[in-house]
Amino acid sequence: MLLKDKLAIITGCNRGIGLATLNAFVAQGASIIACVRAETADFAQHCAQLAATHGVAIEIVSFDLTSTDATKEAVASIVGMRRQIDILVNNAGAASGALFQMTTQRDLRQIFEINFFAQLQFTQSISRLMARQRSGSIINLASVAGLIGEPGMTAYGASKAALIQATRTMASELGASGIRVNAIAPSITHTDMYDQMDPLARNRLIEASALKRAAEPDEIANVALFLASDLSSYITGQVIRVDGGIL
Ligand SMILES: NC(=O)c1ccc[n+]([C@@H]2O[C@H](COP(=O)([O-])OP(=O)(O)OC[C@H]3O[C@@H](n4cnc5c(N)ncnc54)[C@H](OP(=O)(O)O)[C@@H]3O)[C@@H](O)[C@H]2O)c1
Repeated sequence: MLLKDKLAIITGCNRGIGLATLNAFVAQGASIIACVRAETADFAQHCAQLAATHGVAIEIVSFDLTSTDATKEAVASIVGMRRQIDILVNNAGAASGALFQMTTQRDLRQIFEINFFAQLQFTQSISRLMARQRSGSIINLASVAGLIGEPGMTAYGASKAALIQATRTMASELGASGIRVNAIAPSITHTDMYDQMDPLARNRLIEASALKRAAEPDEIANVALFLASDLSSYITGQVIRVDGGIL
């Protein structure tokens, strides 16, 4: 029970890596504030079943992270819960692929909006709560695309590189308040995002890895679990590559 009696906020946890993280955290005893863009009956039912099975609480908060006002309202409702927030997983994100010369300003701005600006706005608010309690673990879902120069990933790669750099700065500023901040940099992972990728680009990354396969969402969630738990109590400001060995 690595997260017994802890409370974690996870964004974008209705599917993909976020859902695997929700399932993994609950199985280790955490209660969850599940942030989704839009609540569905299926997701609410999944959460109710999961909460009953593991004897934890799961509160769903719906908002679009790219809306400044909606995010402020969501933060106000989280503050209103008057609970200690132990963990924040900034998982929600979007991908976009286009060669550099074909990348539109619109795409560039939209991708930065969700993968960078929204993450920072939400994290600023939640980290203030963590600073008051002088503890917390923040985990940002970045990508290997933010570390290597893959063709077709100008917007996505640059947005994740910006998130990685912000992770380091946040870690150095928030460490004195007892808050750890780390990033996970997955490579190709079997989620809906996998299906959206150009098969050629996808296969290039898989072939470049030592393990020659894509990751399963659980394999990313397990690293989030390690970073969320006290097993990683002396780790901050790091980017953990979960890329099957792109060397
Ligand atoms: N899959 C990969 O190969 C891979 C590789 C490296 C890094 N990553 C990163 O890992 C994270 C999770 O990826 P994934 O593959 O699980 O993605 P996914 O299956 O496409 O799910 C994305 C999640 O983000 C949510 N989201 C997107 N825009 C949002 C917004 N404006 N407001 C609120 N929620 C929003 C989605 O909500 P809706 O369901 O409402 O759309 C969904 O829950 C992302 O940050 C991604 O960049 C993924």
